[in-house]
Amino acid sequence: MGEGLQPRAVGPRVAAIVPAAGRGERLGGGTPKALRALGGRPMLVRSIEALRRAESVTQIVVAAPPTLVEVVAQLLGRDVRVIAGGAERVDSVRRALRAVDDDISVVLVHDAARPLTPPSLVDAVAAAVLAGHPAVIPVLGLTDTVKEVGPDGRVIRTPPRDGLRAVQTPQGFRRDVLAAAYALKDIPVTDDAGLVEALGVPVMTVPGAQEAFKVTQPHDLVLAEALLARCAPGDASAGADSRGGLDVRGGSDVRSPG
Ligand code: CTP
Ligand code: MG
Repeated sequence: MGEGLQPRAVGPRVAAIVPAAGRGERLGGGTPKALRALGGRPMLVRSIEALRRAESVTQIVVAAPPTLVEVVAQLLGRDVRVIAGGAERVDSVRRALRAVDDDISVVLVHDAARPLTPPSLVDAVAAAVLAGHPAVIPVLGLTDTVKEVGPDGRVIRTPPRDGLRAVQTPQGFRRDVLAAAYALKDIPVTDDAGLVEALGVPVMTVPGAQEAFKVTQPHDLVLAEALLARCAPGDASAGADSRGGLDVRGGSDVRSPG
């Protein structure tokens, strides 16, 4: 289960909020996505392990599927606070934000569905916030051309690819900025930074990591399994376990007790 979060005597306190309450409908398979096995361990356990390894993170709060709060708390151990998530991702993040300790000054929001995220990316995002940026997101350039397409299937325009980026998590925020963003009502966004943009607060980018991709479709799970299987023992960036080795036994998903 890893060594747990190390208490830090000095320095800023950084919380990582992990929305893990989704159903994983696009992945399918019946089990909530965060609890699907990947290389023998639940995806969520791998995501939490990366946050534990990050030097910047001092508190972890997980938003779990409401019927699985106890199961997830048992699975993750006592250094992780587990709360019930909500109907939409924004509801889960809003609830988790309320469970963050009072002395936390920086909050990272990180999808449970990005199990191979390198700890170095977590620390890079936290460092950029601590350096003075109120909001920071990891991004990658695109390989495919992107088209805007109308409801009738006809192409409307082709935005120049040079200026486009794909956005990952963890996204990092000054705590007061994220709290203000989550106090906004009914703004349709697909990431946390979108809410901060609606506030008019500048959002800074840092280079993302290919391994931080989100497991969304069955294809992504196959890719994640293949990357884990190829990863040399001791390579923590691709999800090595806490002993530095790899655990790629064909494990089973965690299931609801009821
Ligand atoms: N999430 C959450 N609460 C929700 C919905 C999503 O905490 N009500 C979390 C998911 O568990 C995931 C992250 O938000 O870690 C990103 O969401 P997504 O990839 O869309 O996961 P799911 O919503 O589970 O998948 P799907 O949309 O295919 O059902
Ligand atoms: Mg979803």
